[in-house]
Amino acid sequence: MSNIESVLHENRVFEPSAEFVKQANISGMSAYKALCEEADQDYEAFWARLARDNLLWHKPFDKTLDESNPPFFKWFHDGELNASYNCLDRHLNTQPNKVAIIFEADDGTVTRITYKQLYHRVCQFANGLKSLGIKPGDRVVIYMPMSIEAVAAMQACARIGATHSVVFGGFSAKSLQDRIGDAGAVAVLTADGQMRGGKEIPLKPVVDEAIAMGGCDSVKHMVVYKRTGSNIKMQDERDVWLSDLVQNQLDVCEPVWVNAEHPLFILYTSGSTGKPKGVQHSTAGYLLHAILTMKWTFDFKGSDVFWCTADVGWVTGHTYIAYGPLAVGATQVVFEGVPTYPKPDRFWKLINEFGVTVFYTAPTAIRSLIKLGADLPKNYDLSSLRLLGTVGEPINPEAWIWYYETVGGKRCPIVDTWWQTETGGHLITPLPGAIPMKPGSCTMPLPGIMCDVVDETGESVEKGSGGILVIKKPWPAMIRTIWGDPERFKKTYYPEDFQGKYYLAGDGASRDLDGYFWIMGRIDDVLNVSGHRLGTMEIESALVAHDLVAEAAVVGRPHDVKGEAVIAFVVLKGDRPTGEESKEIAKTLRDWVGKDIGAIAKPEEIRFGDNLPKTRSGKIMRRLLRAIAKGEEITQDVSTLENPQILDQLKETV
Ligand code: WTA
Repeated sequence: MSNIESVLHENRVFEPSAEFVKQANISGMSAYKALCEEADQDYEAFWARLARDNLLWHKPFDKTLDESNPPFFKWFHDGELNASYNCLDRHLNTQPNKVAIIFEADDGTVTRITYKQLYHRVCQFANGLKSLGIKPGDRVVIYMPMSIEAVAAMQACARIGATHSVVFGGFSAKSLQDRIGDAGAVAVLTADGQMRGGKEIPLKPVVDEAIAMGGCDSVKHMVVYKRTGSNIKMQDERDVWLSDLVQNQLDVCEPVWVNAEHPLFILYTSGSTGKPKGVQHSTAGYLLHAILTMKWTFDFKGSDVFWCTADVGWVTGHTYIAYGPLAVGATQVVFEGVPTYPKPDRFWKLINEFGVTVFYTAPTAIRSLIKLGADLPKNYDLSSLRLLGTVGEPINPEAWIWYYETVGGKRCPIVDTWWQTETGGHLITPLPGAIPMKPGSCTMPLPGIMCDVVDETGESVEKGSGGILVIKKPWPAMIRTIWGDPERFKKTYYPEDFQGKYYLAGDGASRDLDGYFWIMGRIDDVLNVSGHRLGTMEIESALVAHDLVAEAAVVGRPHDVKGEAVIAFVVLKGDRPTGEESKEIAKTLRDWVGKDIGAIAKPEEIRFGDNLPKTRSGKIMRRLLRAIAKGEEITQDVSTLENPQILDQLKETV
């Protein structure tokens, strides 16, 4: 049974324990409903109250929401603040010596840094960046390993009003070049390399390669954090070691007060066309949501040890490592390595060692850890855990139950958080002390988030049926625009289909009779592989850029660990290869995609045909390709196909 079918048959309900409810920040359904009502009654007043209660303002705002130029909404836009001040300075009087980050390196070395130390580290870093001439509004690309320094780098940018754009360390030189060029970055902050699973992976050499490809003339500086100590080349004028840059810098730095709408960061994500989109976020609205969801979804308490296993290269690592936990003053774990090294018990070992109370990871990680050792958690004392979370993709009920029982000891609620790079933070999720859970459902929208499931015309569908997930009112943490392409922003997220009124999430969803939301996956050409978003067009463009390839079509196929796997159908310029030759070419092309985009985009399988199934008007019939990839019998009508015999070829695996 596919995940979608299995969740639709899922009707178990798990109530949070009385004990959890009693201590919860939002305690019981009535507390949840009261907040929803507050938002219903006066939407702007609701958000204004939260923004005043949760953020420290340098200049308070009077105007809450500006809707004069939809869909370019502005929130709190006559106010001024600084994100780094809100994450660090606010704790200096109350808890300077509290540990902010417990960092565990790949090899197990542990480093702890307090709020006060982190504050000074960030200030020195910020002063260093200023000494290079980096100004408010400049874009700075960060291509760094999971480390205290990566968090400090993001905070330092925020402190001086520079807009950061973090690129995941697994992305290729080509992907990096695209992003540096699109953002027009003046500096790149990187490291010599990173350690993952005992292996050293170069970073600075990849930045050099990206810059050598051209189109990155905006880059004037590169700051290099020494992580691995490997031998790398430094370019005199341009490159500086982080340790040299900060050496003589003051350890205090007045924050630059920015407008609430000032772009805190740009984060590139895949869309349904070839070019990744630079999702631009604001300062105030974004940070407000990071704080609120730490309190609401993660039920944050001062005594918590919080651990989000995401990389800072993804939005989850932005909101729930670099900003949210710091803004609420949490102690959090930051981990450099991988869950399977040296053994697949690493997560459980760390939870045990550091007394983690709130643990947040991806379903794909859970599924792979079940495979590699379903009993391993039993070797560790996981009794410190009180709350679990998942993110990035639907979780299948089997994995949910295992997580609930084996990791959470049937004691911990699970928050299955639905959100996107564009939404800034959680939008649909159980509130752990209020909303009963159903395995596989992200349950209910947060207070103030007006979600609905609609049909193609924008009409709400009845409970019990499926449709398109939309958000009917702007919310403070929403994407502001696509960097450099406001038209694309408008077209993608506020399409004419709904008279430009609703935010289109790009996901299908259904709502059951209790009003619970069930996410059914993307409705566009975006794949979700191990919780990472990949555009099929991006991979297709990479494939056709290879000399051997004439044409390519990429689809997703359900995968029991990754959620979805990338399957590519390829037509070569020469003859269709068979036997050994096809294996060799498939390998060449997989490596090529890895080099062009990054290892996460490598097709799981490549199949070759003399052509692709097309309609008479030349449109590739992806529906058929998806069926073929799954090994399904073709029951669809193929009479409009130009070349039906091609289907048999494409059934053959390499
Ligand atoms: C999917 C990650 C089901 C969804 C935070 C969304 C989910 C895309 C869930 C965004 C969930 C995320 N259940 N599907 N709990 N969370 N998704 O931008 O398809 O990397 O549109 O943000 O992941 O991926 P992104």
